[in-house]
Amino acid sequence: MTTITPFLLLLTISVSVAAISDHNFRGAVFDVNSKFSGEKRSLTLFKAHDNLRHLQILASGVDLPLGGTGRPDTVGLYYARIGIGTPPKEYYVQVDTGSDIMWIKCIGCSECPKRGYHGLELSLYDLEDSFTGKLVTCSSEFCAEINGGAVTGCKANATCLYNEDYGDGSYSIGYFVMDVVQYDSVSGDLETKLANGSVIFGCGVKQSSNLGSSEEALDGILGFGKSNSSVISQLASSGNVNKMFAHCLDGDNGGGIFAIGHVVQPKVNSTPLIQDEPHYSANVTGIEVGTQFLNLSTNTHGMGDKRRTIIDSGTTLAYLPDAIYKPMINEIVAGQPELRLHTLHEQYTCFEYSGSVDDGFPAVTFYFENTLSLKVYPHDYLFVEEDFLCFGWQNNGLDSLSTMDTILLGDLVLSNKLVLYDLENQTIGWTEYNCSSTIKLRDEITGSVHLVGPHSIPSAGSRIARRHLLSLLVIALIHRIVS
Ligand SMILES: *[C@@H]1O[C@H](CO)[C@@H](O)[C@H](O)[C@H]1NC(C)=O
Ligand SMILES: *[C@@H]1O[C@H](CO)[C@@H](O)[C@H](O)[C@H]1NC(C)=O
Ligand SMILES: *[C@@H]1O[C@H](CO)[C@@H](O)[C@H](O)[C@H]1NC(C)=O
Ligand SMILES: *[C@@H]1O[C@H](CO)[C@@H](O)[C@H](O)[C@H]1NC(C)=O
Ligand SMILES: *[C@@H]1O[C@H](CO)[C@@H](O)[C@H](O)[C@H]1NC(C)=O
Ligand SMILES: *[C@@H]1O[C@H](CO)[C@@H](O)[C@H](O)[C@H]1NC(C)=O
Ligand SMILES: *[C@@H]1O[C@H](CO)[C@@H](O)[C@H](O)[C@H]1NC(C)=O
Repeated sequence: MTTITPFLLLLTISVSVAAISDHNFRGAVFDVNSKFSGEKRSLTLFKAHDNLRHLQILASGVDLPLGGTGRPDTVGLYYARIGIGTPPKEYYVQVDTGSDIMWIKCIGCSECPKRGYHGLELSLYDLEDSFTGKLVTCSSEFCAEINGGAVTGCKANATCLYNEDYGDGSYSIGYFVMDVVQYDSVSGDLETKLANGSVIFGCGVKQSSNLGSSEEALDGILGFGKSNSSVISQLASSGNVNKMFAHCLDGDNGGGIFAIGHVVQPKVNSTPLIQDEPHYSANVTGIEVGTQFLNLSTNTHGMGDKRRTIIDSGTTLAYLPDAIYKPMINEIVAGQPELRLHTLHEQYTCFEYSGSVDDGFPAVTFYFENTLSLKVYPHDYLFVEEDFLCFGWQNNGLDSLSTMDTILLGDLVLSNKLVLYDLENQTIGWTEYNCSSTIKLRDEITGSVHLVGPHSIPSAGSRIARRHLLSLLVIALIHRIVS
């Protein structure tokens, strides 16, 4: 991923037993597995069985240990550590609010590196190694649900396949399994206890090279998207717990806070999520550079002066339509007429500057419906590359396509803010926040309030990747294959 293709707001999760043969993906994974026991593993039955336990555990909140950074100069991405299987093994997964499934690289991957991003030690999941691991079949309720209906050509005991393509051209292909996921349940102020719940996730058989190369590799991706297949939806499937989560990505120290549960402090203002959208998206009603508002009007799209904006923790930078990008950059540099802009690595717009960036350049403020605003300071949107300062704002370059009308805001913009996703009330909100401090979660059953603090999962630190990667740009759009 040394170059970033203009991003496509396209991802297909096609789950079907048909034709994945062109990806050289055959053989064992389709075979009947002795651990399989058919319909008994359907999601509904599992839900009914585990409802009470989930209710109790999730009611108090979950504290997900985070590591990584949002700075593109060291390959920006955030990851969490989770335990999977019995006995549990640890895996590092990229936290991605832009996609809907969790997948982990599975045994049999020959070219998968042993060490990955920031020297993290990687592991491959082996179904046979876990007492609690089971195959999910194509006839299961989960497979039908994710597939938008019964799977055509589903033979008894055949696996439920997935093929997840991300916005930057990367992909993972494999089949679904169900196993116990271990996590830290909030039990007191800055205290957690281990808890577990069964979750369906993908067993990745083949990944595109960029998801496998050692500088950027992790064990997988943890999709925190809106759909029923996401881990948050599965864990909260009892329906009685608040489907809410929050992240505070620490742009200065790395890591931060990622918590599932009812955040009561800090208080955030929120804006409604656009319905029937596969991503977390909201309407931007204005963009201000310093004190100058940009013209958001277009004649070609029926959205008036509003711009659909996706919030995605799986993307590092921020992508803007050409009609917004150019005026924005012009306005940012307007007060510095002597500045000379260069293009670095054919993708970054950069310049030399030695003063204080916050004194020299204006902040950029996005206004959302319901008087929520998001202010991005120069020290957030500028990053250092070689001896230059470069803009984190990127031109998505394809304004003529209607999907490119969309603004995409990633970690660079979301860092140093507490971002709250409320799937109950279908809102998203945020506030500027010190991600090295604590937040408060309320236990929905006892009503008690507990502090949750930051993490910065240490990595081996042997080597910091310095590639010119922009983003993993994980953007999902469920493409249902209805038979
Ligand atoms: C499916 O698996 C079950 C349990 O292992 C087995 O009893 C059954 O015969 C299998 N069905 C087919 C068609 O292989
Ligand atoms: C999951 O939690 C249950 C109940 O707390 C416990 O008995 C079991 O050992 C746990 N399993 C794993 C794999 O941690
Ligand atoms: C998701 O789950 C909810 C509750 O179980 C259900 O009402 C809804 O139809 C599901 N949505 C999809 C797209 O399957
Ligand atoms: C966002 O803008 C669209 C188009 O103007 C509008 O239909 C919609 O109601 C707005 N708000 C939400 C939350 O969808
Ligand atoms: C804003 O941009 C649109 C489309 O380019 C243009 O039609 C309109 O005249 C502009 N409005 C102002 C106030 O400049
Ligand atoms: C969701 O909305 C309801 C009704 O407006 C409100 O009572 C409730 O407090 C909201 N929940 C959260 C978590 O904000
Ligand atoms: C953020 O919080 C941490 C922990 O409370 C504190 O040490 C640090 O000084 C705070 N940073 C700022 C900029 O206030």
